[in-house]
Parts: sequence; structure tokens; C-alpha cells
Amino acid sequence: MKKVHIKSYGCQMNVYDGQRMADVLGQQGYVETATPDDADLILLNTCHIRERAAHKVYTELGKLRDLKRERKAQGRETTLVVAGCVAQAEGAEIQRRQPAVDLVIGPQTYHRLPELLALAKGGRVVDTELPPEDKFGHLPAPKPAVIVARGISAFVTVQEGCDKFCAFCVVPYTRGAEFSRPVTQVIAEVERLAEAGVQDVSLLGQNVNAYHGEGPDGGVWTLARLMRRIAEVPDITRIRYTTSHPRDMDEELIAAHRDLPQVMPFLHLPVQAGSDRILAAMNRKHTGDEYRRLIDRIREARPDIALSSDFIVGFPGESDADFEETLRLIADVRFASAYSFKYSPRPGTPAAELAGQVPLAVMDERLHRLQGLVEEHRQDFNHAMVGRTVEILIERTGRHPGQLAGKTPYMQAVQIESTTHRIGDRIMVEIERAGSNSLFGRAVERPELAA
Ligand code: 5AD
Ligand code: SF4
Repeated sequence: MKKVHIKSYGCQMNVYDGQRMADVLGQQGYVETATPDDADLILLNTCHIRERAAHKVYTELGKLRDLKRERKAQGRETTLVVAGCVAQAEGAEIQRRQPAVDLVIGPQTYHRLPELLALAKGGRVVDTELPPEDKFGHLPAPKPAVIVARGISAFVTVQEGCDKFCAFCVVPYTRGAEFSRPVTQVIAEVERLAEAGVQDVSLLGQNVNAYHGEGPDGGVWTLARLMRRIAEVPDITRIRYTTSHPRDMDEELIAAHRDLPQVMPFLHLPVQAGSDRILAAMNRKHTGDEYRRLIDRIREARPDIALSSDFIVGFPGESDADFEETLRLIADVRFASAYSFKYSPRPGTPAAELAGQVPLAVMDERLHRLQGLVEEHRQDFNHAMVGRTVEILIERTGRHPGQLAGKTPYMQAVQIESTTHRIGDRIMVEIERAGSNSLFGRAVERPELAA
């Protein structure tokens, strides 16, 4: 039996792509293995979003070259593949820096993996085409047993690429122009997942709320309409979507948070910065106040919604006063969680050419302050759950026997002690305690609906 080890870096879309590549390779007789040590095929599914992520690939490749050499001495062949966004951005340069790499494959041609691997037997191969065809339509569906092994929460990519061109971001170059998968294809995939026991789907896209897929009626469907249809799939109890752009949060989508019980009260809506000057330089196409007003409208529709965001500190030209504006926005919105990053100049992006690059020490200090403030709000949000009873979806067994782990509708991790419940159960839990990364509670009876 041939074994493949897939290591995905970066975003959830890479995790999804890694699974789909495993599905393609599964058809070729490969089974997945958790470590590179016993794999015949090692595939790095890379991320190019920040310099550090891209750099990691070369460190890892150095180690894998040594592994490949050792094995060769024992008469065993190992195939090394670099996929994902570094592959797309750097192409043949990867093999120039690391000749042990057999195949470089961009994110748009995964369905051609078998054919490219065969080709790579005869010498090194690079394929970073951005073909106009729909790769998703060519990817095999995972087998039910594979879906079960991946758990009751699943990712489904519904949209890929980005037309927004934020000044700092490589995504429009690595993932190409916006593409939305046709509705029937998405629904077929969700139905297959649900039949194998999946209850919770996260719809993925770099700009997922710009979704505009071809509907079964020939018309163009929005994300809200797609979610209304997914909510009709039996046994799908939870729906989320990520990542969204503030400009694409339309009324229909906001209303879906009010009207569809399956749509979770959780929204990741990156704002990046709080200063209007910096937002304009970032080409975000909205102001801080426009974002605040949008949040107000979303909270009107769904008052308990948990919000999350991405922030970049030290974008070129960001002054102390600009940064204070970011802190002010955070204080106004009070996010339940957030990801934050030091600005990293990326080759080919407009911001990399800008004057006024911010010194590292300043970025470090700003990041530290920002993360401190977000952490306070996160803890407040989690502590406010204590004493409340919420529905938990049990996702896995906990660290100790008798322990189960699940999530609240707000994406908080919860641990309970129970010997009577199982993975996949949706139960009411009274939250008794908030730890630093997890809530703790006990199962209670589901209150009968009042007549
Ligand atoms: N430098 C730092 N952070 C970046 N991001 C995207 N590009 C860069 C960059 N050049 C962050 C943004 C985005 C998240 C996925 O990564 O905050 O929302
Ligand atoms: Fe990058 Fe901006 Fe597109 Fe998000 S919206 S993927 S940050 S260009």
C-alpha cells in the first residue's frame, strides 16, 4: 500500500484542499499517514500570506531532502510535492532553491495530480497554470468512511479567489480571480457529508460573502440564498461561513442571521485597521465608522452574535495616532476573538513599494497592546457565559476518559463530563466555569417548549 503524508499550512481553505488532494490520491491507492517518516509521497500544502509562512516551507524542505536521501540509500523512493500558494507564487524558483522537489503544483490544478505525478517520474515538473475550468467539478468525492474519520464538522469551499486587491495581500495573485462553485455541486457535496454524519458545515472562500454561484434555475444565487438551501439539507444543524469582506455584507445576508436557526451567531469579519487614512491606503474601500454601522445592523438582526476579526499592525505609514484608532475601534466593537499580525511586505503587492515601512520594534509593541485588549474582551465574553445554558454540539472525546468536547454556537470550546452522551449529540449545557481557553459545564435537561 502506498502512503501519502499531507501537511497543510495557513488557512482553512488549505485544510480543505489537503483533504480533496487526499481524495484524489485515494483513488490512486494511496492512504494517508500522519507522519512523513513512512510516506512514499510527501506533500506540503503551503501558505504565502506572510513572509514567515512562506519561509517555513524551505526549512521543512531542507529536512525532507535529508529524509529522501537517507531512504534512497536504503533503496526506497520518496516523492516530494509542493502545492498551495507558495507553489503558485514561486513556481520553478522552488526547485531551483531545493532540487529535491519533484513536483510543484498550484492550487488550481489539484485534479491533475495523478497525471502530474506520473510525469514527475521522468523528471521535475512545475504546473502553476490558472486554467479557466472548474477544478472542483473534476475532484472525486470522499468515501463515507473518510468523511466519518474527518469528524462531524466539515469545510466546504464554495468560493475561491479575490477581486478586492487590498494593497497588502497576495491572495488575488495566488488564488486568482473570484470564482463561485455552482449551487448544485455545493448541495450535492453537503448532502453527501450529511449522509455520512456531518452536522456542521463551514462554507469557505477567500471572499465567501461575495459568492455568486450559478443556481439550478439558471440565475445567480447569493450566499444568503445558498445558505437557505443548505439549511434544508436534513441533519445539517450548524452553518458558518468565512472569510467575509465588510463591503459584501448585504441586507439579505444580515437577515439570514436573523431568520435561519442553522446559521450560527458567529461572524468573522476582518476590518484590518481602524484609521480611515490607513484603511484607504490598504484599499479596503470602507471607513472605520462604516464598519461600526455595519456591526450595529448585524447586531440588530442577531443581538447575541459573536464577532471576530483580523488586524494588521504596522502597515506602511501607520502612525501612533492611526494605531490608537485601531484600538478605539476594537474598544467600540468588543470582538469575541481576533487574529492579529505584523505587516509583512509581500512581493508583487502595491504596499510592498510604499514608503514609511514601520520598524519591527514598533510593530511588536503595537501587536502586544492590541492582543492584550482583544484578550480582555475575549475573556469577558467567555466569562459572561458562566451561569447560562447553551446548546453544545459534541464533536470529540476529551483528554480524559468520560470527558467530551464540543462547541457553543459562538464557537467556544466546551468540556463536559458525561458517560451517557456521544459525539454528534446536541445537548443543553449549563456553563459552570470559564478557563483561559475552554468553558466547563454540565449537561441539563432540554427545557420543553412552552405550549
Ligand atoms: N502582512 C500581514 N498580514 C497579512 N494578512 C494578509 N496579508 C498580510 C500581510 N502582507 C492578514 C490579513 C488577512 C489575514 C488572512 O492575513 O489580516 O485578513
Ligand atoms: Fe486579501 Fe483583501 Fe481579498 Fe481578503 S479581501 S483575500 S485581505 S485582497
